[in-house]
Amino acid sequence: MAILAIESSCDETGLAIYDEKAGRLIAHRLYSQIALHAKFGGVVPELASRDHIRKILPLTKEVLRDAEVDFKDLTGVAYTAGPGLIGALMVGASFAVALGYALKIPVIPVNHLEGHLLASFLEEDQPEFPFLGLLVSGGHSQLVQCESFGNYQLLGETLDDAVGEAFDKVAKILGLPYPGGPLLAKLAKTGAKTRFHFPRPLADRPELNFSFSGLKTCALNAYLQHQNEENVTAHIAAAFEDAATDSLLIKCKQALQRYPLKTLVVAGGVSANQVLRAKLNGLGKELGIKVYWPRLEFCTDNGAMIAYVGAQKFLRGEIATNYQIDINPRLNWL
Ligand code: KG4
Ligand code: ZN
Repeated sequence: MAILAIESSCDETGLAIYDEKAGRLIAHRLYSQIALHAKFGGVVPELASRDHIRKILPLTKEVLRDAEVDFKDLTGVAYTAGPGLIGALMVGASFAVALGYALKIPVIPVNHLEGHLLASFLEEDQPEFPFLGLLVSGGHSQLVQCESFGNYQLLGETLDDAVGEAFDKVAKILGLPYPGGPLLAKLAKTGAKTRFHFPRPLADRPELNFSFSGLKTCALNAYLQHQNEENVTAHIAAAFEDAATDSLLIKCKQALQRYPLKTLVVAGGVSANQVLRAKLNGLGKELGIKVYWPRLEFCTDNGAMIAYVGAQKFLRGEIATNYQIDINPRLNWL
C-alpha cells in the first residue's frame, strides 16, 4: 500500500512514498535547484522545467529503492497540480499521469497550498481539526480557518507582497544572494533590532489582513540613508524580521481571540523562521493554545506534504476519473 507523490511546482523536485493504510511516510527525496538559479538572482522558469525533467525519473527510482517498494506495489500517484510555474507543474503532472496510466492506478492532483497547510500531519504529534492555519510562504500569507480535511475558510491574507517574498526582496536590497529569506534571518542574528524601528502595518485594523510591501520601502530607505554605518545591513535585517514576524503575531492573536479555535498550525517556508517560532510559541502559552509546526525540512517545498494530502484524498475516493493532465497554476486557491 503506497502512494507515490511528486512535487515540482517551483525550484525543487520532491518525491515521497506514503503508506496510506498505516498513515506513515515511508521515504522522501528532495533535489534543490538553488545552485542552478543562484547566478540569475532568482528562479528562471524554463531552466526549472528542464531540470525537473532531468531529475524526476532518477529521484523516483531512488525513493522507491529507499522505501523498498516496487512500481507494481504502488496504489496511486499524487502530484502537485498548482499553484506554481506552469512548465514545472507540467513536468510533474505529465510524469504522474503517464505512470498512473501505465500502472493502471489512480492519479491524484493535489493543491500545493493544502500540502503546506497540512505538513504538520506528517509529524507523530498531529494537530486536530478545527484549527487556525497560518500559511506563510513565498507566494502566500494567509490565515485560514480549517474545519476538517478539505474544508477551509479564508479569514485574511496579504494585500500586497507575501511575507516570504518580502524577506527575499529585502535580502536583495541588503546584497544577499538568492534565496534571500533564510540568509536574511541568519544576518539578523548579528544585528540590533532596535537600531531601526519599522511599522507594524494594519496592526490597529480589525481585518485579519497583512501588508508587507511598505516594510521593503522602510528597509530601502534605511539602507540608502545609513549605508556607511557599521553593521547596518544586519541592523536592517533584524528590524525587518522583527516587524514582519510581529505583524504575523498580531493577526494570529486577533484571530485566536475572535474565533473559538484552540489550535494554531503554522506552515510554509517562512514557518522555518526561528524568531517567528519563538513569538508564536509564546502566544500559544499566553492564550493556552497548542501550536504545531512541521519539521524544518517540511516547511519549505517537499514531496512528503503532497504525499500526505494525496493519501487523504485517495482514502476519500477523491481521485482523477481519467488520465488527463489537470493543472491550475493560479495563486488564489481559497
Ligand atoms: O513554501 P516555500 O518553500 O515556497 C513557496 O511555496 O513559496 O517558501 C519559500 C519562502 C521564500 O520566500 C523563503 O525566503 C522563505 O520561504 N523562507 C524563510 C526562511 N526559510 C525560507 N523566510 C524567513 N526565514 C526563514 N528561515
Ligand atoms: Zn511552497
